[in-house]
Amino acid sequence: MKTKRTKSSYSTFSIYDHMGLRPWMYAGLVLLLAVLAACGSAPQRQHKGMVQPGVDYHSFANPDEVRVRHIDLDLKADFDNKTIGGTVTLTIDRLKPEASTLILDSRNLQVENVEWFAGANEEVAKPLEWHWGKTDPLLGTALKISLPENSPAGEEKIRISYHSDPQATGLQWLDKQQTASQTAPFVFSQNEAIHGRSWIPLQDTPQVRQTYHAKIRVPAGMKAVMSAKTVSGDRQQGLYEFDMPQAIPSYLIALAAGDLKARKIGPRSRVFAEKPYLKAAAEEFSDMEAMIQAGEKLYGPYQWGEYNLLILPPSFPFGGMENPRVSFITPTVLAGDKSLVSLIAHELAHSWSGNLVTNATWRDLWLNEGFTTYFESRITEQVYGKEIAAMERVLQWQSLEKELQELPPEAQLLAVDLRGHDPDDAFSDVPYVKGRFFLDRLEQAYGRSAFDVFLRKWFDQHAFESVTTEGFVEFVQQNLLGTQPPHRTGISMNEVRRWVYQPGMPHTFVKPTSKKLHEVDQWRDSFTKYNLPAEKLPGKAWSTQEWLYFLNNLPDAIGQEQLARLDKVWRLTQSHNSEIAHSWLLLAIKNHYPAVTERLQDYLQHIGRRKLVVPLYEAMLKDPQWRQQALDIYQKARPGYHHLTRMTVENLIKKTAQATDTGK
Ligand code: BES
Ligand code: ZN
Repeated sequence: MKTKRTKSSYSTFSIYDHMGLRPWMYAGLVLLLAVLAACGSAPQRQHKGMVQPGVDYHSFANPDEVRVRHIDLDLKADFDNKTIGGTVTLTIDRLKPEASTLILDSRNLQVENVEWFAGANEEVAKPLEWHWGKTDPLLGTALKISLPENSPAGEEKIRISYHSDPQATGLQWLDKQQTASQTAPFVFSQNEAIHGRSWIPLQDTPQVRQTYHAKIRVPAGMKAVMSAKTVSGDRQQGLYEFDMPQAIPSYLIALAAGDLKARKIGPRSRVFAEKPYLKAAAEEFSDMEAMIQAGEKLYGPYQWGEYNLLILPPSFPFGGMENPRVSFITPTVLAGDKSLVSLIAHELAHSWSGNLVTNATWRDLWLNEGFTTYFESRITEQVYGKEIAAMERVLQWQSLEKELQELPPEAQLLAVDLRGHDPDDAFSDVPYVKGRFFLDRLEQAYGRSAFDVFLRKWFDQHAFESVTTEGFVEFVQQNLLGTQPPHRTGISMNEVRRWVYQPGMPHTFVKPTSKKLHEVDQWRDSFTKYNLPAEKLPGKAWSTQEWLYFLNNLPDAIGQEQLARLDKVWRLTQSHNSEIAHSWLLLAIKNHYPAVTERLQDYLQHIGRRKLVVPLYEAMLKDPQWRQQALDIYQKARPGYHHLTRMTVENLIKKTAQATDTGK
């Protein structure tokens, strides 16, 4: 698969890249896995047989026997030792009365003690036997707890005393020099997909929903935020209490603490940010209420009370993360002109698709992300107009199209077999963009109003549940195909299955277009082919999307002279828009345009968002003229990067070294 690809094929979130293997290494690995499987190692690594829909291959937990219903956290964030520790008390239900073991997920946790009590009888808690089960490089270690033989009357609770490892994959600890205000250190969690287990022992599968309560201690003067209601907060003492009364999957439990301030941005919305970002963020996201109302109009009431935004330090590895009640957001969307706010529409949209109706396994990620990308577009359309939504559709298609040229066929299915892979690597344009185009196709076939009724029904019927790809396909069959025969709509069940279970795009897919971007094509042609002076481009009137489209489609080898002409007039090297700067720097790297060197260093040392930095590293690492510089910059930037960004860049470094070794 991967090894057959000739050109270096990193696509931002390509599925196999993290492995960075040569053919012989790959063969060796397969052999090793086979041996391990034969020795009874983690069943998740066996690639035998068909995938079973609804089976979570990325968790050791046994929720079909014993299921966690509520989590009570009492934790302290220790910034000196970079650990979070204390107790977690799990309220469990024995679904099978004879079940005698609770299996939890964990990764590098130190467990000190496990106790059991019933109801409120904490003082008569009794110690329980426990042991570590299997360890798997992707999944962590099973924590097996032996339960008392007879389940008591009243609620059964398991209390675990533990602390996290300083290298916990789900937490990033930043020194105060690495924050925007430089006044206090910062910590934040990123649980999706399977990192919750690195700081809380729990059933880390999206099929288990639980309510939670938390008491969190942080150093005096700091503010803590969680994906829950703040019950009380005392900044001076650094003591906070949170409550999440709605049942959520573990990947949505989230915590951040630092020198955070808050500002109201709407009747049910606040922004939390370090002081230097606060005003800019409040202005950038001032349309929050209009967006929430647009969402409600489409899919029903917003169910989570408040919708707040937390602006993280620039090392946050994602654009955004839809933690309920408070989305975590990269500061790189603060463009000053609201031009990147569709990312907020995206995270908000997850309040329905994802947080309310949740993918049952990571194979079903497209039900979260494809629905959300579709829904994001509907909100953007309503709040900012059809043309912006159309332009973003084109940009998304271009990104997917490129990625499809590089991904192996098996990674191009909406429902992708992730057995033996890190679920973080399902994070390609396929679940997002192919997923949304599938929904666009259904919308187009049945008409918007019928499709809206259909989607509303899907959300209403599955609220607070987890859903599988197969469940959705059946729902489509019953509620769309069943209501109107294929000869009237032009879409058959075969086509539906083609979208979900086959690589590439079905032939019914129509490439999106945009009038405004078509004009940009003409301007680009005039500039590249007919020598139009750079100052004659109507760039002042262009939106971010038009600029991105202009830059992304310039010829790769446009040449330094042309770049200098553009730069002189449009000052692209100095652009404060993180996306425009990204597209520009990529082009500059490909053309060895020397004027960007300083800006490139600065960019890579200040931003840790994978989508923005990884393609720049890739372009540099592949190019002998840039490679050493990329390695030098990475060395300096690494301490500020999140674990996920480090992993991706380091795998690229390895992969490209092999490519250069073999003269590819
Ligand atoms: N939930 C995702 C982030 C995620 C997905 C984390 C899978 C881990 C595994 C979030 O909603 C997201 O999609 N973020 C995008 C935003 C963009 C598509 C608008 C990002 O970070 O780039
Ligand atoms: Zn998303």
